[in-house]
Amino acid sequence: MKSYLKMSKEELASEIEALRKEYKKYQSLELELDMSRGKPCREQLDLSMGLMDALNSDADLSCEDGTDCRNYGVLDGIHEAKVLIGDMMENNPDNILIYGNSSLNVMYDQIARSFTHGVMGNTPWCKLDKIKWLCPVPGYDRHFGITEYFGIEMIPVPMSVNGPDMDMVEKLVASDEAIKGIWCVPKYSNPQGYSYNDETVRRFARLKPAAKDFRIYWDNAYGIHHLYDDHQDYLIEILAECKRAGNPDLVYKFSSTSKITFPGSGIAAIATSANNLEDIRLQLTHQTIGHDKVNQLRHVRFFGDIHGMVEHMRKHADIIRPKFEAVEKIFDENLKGLEIAEWTKPNGGYFISFDGLEGTAKLIVDRAKKAGVKLTPAGSTWPLHKDPKDNNIRIAPTYPTLEDLKTAAKLFTVCVRLVSAEKIYENFGKNEKVEEKKKEVKKA
Ligand SMILES: Cc1ncc(COP(=O)(O)O)c(C=O)c1O
Repeated sequence: MKSYLKMSKEELASEIEALRKEYKKYQSLELELDMSRGKPCREQLDLSMGLMDALNSDADLSCEDGTDCRNYGVLDGIHEAKVLIGDMMENNPDNILIYGNSSLNVMYDQIARSFTHGVMGNTPWCKLDKIKWLCPVPGYDRHFGITEYFGIEMIPVPMSVNGPDMDMVEKLVASDEAIKGIWCVPKYSNPQGYSYNDETVRRFARLKPAAKDFRIYWDNAYGIHHLYDDHQDYLIEILAECKRAGNPDLVYKFSSTSKITFPGSGIAAIATSANNLEDIRLQLTHQTIGHDKVNQLRHVRFFGDIHGMVEHMRKHADIIRPKFEAVEKIFDENLKGLEIAEWTKPNGGYFISFDGLEGTAKLIVDRAKKAGVKLTPAGSTWPLHKDPKDNNIRIAPTYPTLEDLKTAAKLFTVCVRLVSAEKIYENFGKNEKVEEKKKEVKKA
């Protein structure tokens, strides 16, 4: 396909005319499709229906150590759940604290407690003038939503295929005591599907923060969410690496079974150093007597062990891999070579990150909406919803059926082409004109 950037004005005009006709055809279909949120689809949820049979009224609800799961207590979570989640997170059960049904909730709590009571004896953040946070971009909108809610100043840090710009991270963290944290989705990142390389993880573990209460918020939400058996990303385990580097308390690691079993009815956990855990427990005792142990037991009985969980993830992959591949194929067929867009091809996770021409993301999302396809709002992948280039869109292929997804992806590419062609057409010759003007001014 001929690059839009190399087309004459006439060629562009006829391309726009054809695309408008195609767009109208889609509009007449009265579609109602949703590619906006990273939710598992129905078939994926069906995979975990066995959870409902794992326990019944005849079941013995005692743990291996005799604890009756029906009753109060066990703040940390039951041991067998710590073993299972420990294997999932690649951490020792002693470093794990099991929470409730959402890891985002755990992250929110960590920040809330840091504000009200401080981190390991340091001044509570509410008593400080300013708190700042590093935000790799594009990133996860709900992370940015938490830091925004607490009035934290967010500093965008560019992401590359290897992770955040570590020169920038090291420099900022070492020089500014107001910087207290960084959001990281280190494996199959939201939205790019990138995984941090070894050097990035090693540099994270060796950060020298000016603030003693700086913590890396390592949200490994997609740790075992591979799309392929043979092409899997590998991530160095950060807790062990921090320990090796002599920085054992530097990181809070988060995860959950949200996209393994039922989002909202799974189990979430934090893995961190003994010192951090002690600090968390001190505060947590005032918050709860213990989380849902019956659900913890249900998950353990359903999976058996980590091998059961890995096998289960293969079934998820079998359902969603064709969806990712369908989107990639449609993007390749309809956008490749036009020089108007780039997109990621992840080996796992839940998203594809799409970059269009500058100043087109909002228009593309709007056009898609008017033809019945809901996308994540443009700007969501940036703090305060402010994408300075207005060109990034997060694509979430998992939720729609394969057929719906194909239709949505095709319409999306029509919107991308139409908006981009119109933009190039509008600006046609402007650059040349600016150059001519400059020459005239010079001559004068
Ligand atoms: C990176 C990341 N972290 C956390 C979550 C939410 O996890 P939970 O359901 O455990 O709160 C999501 C959901 O999309 C996510 O993408």
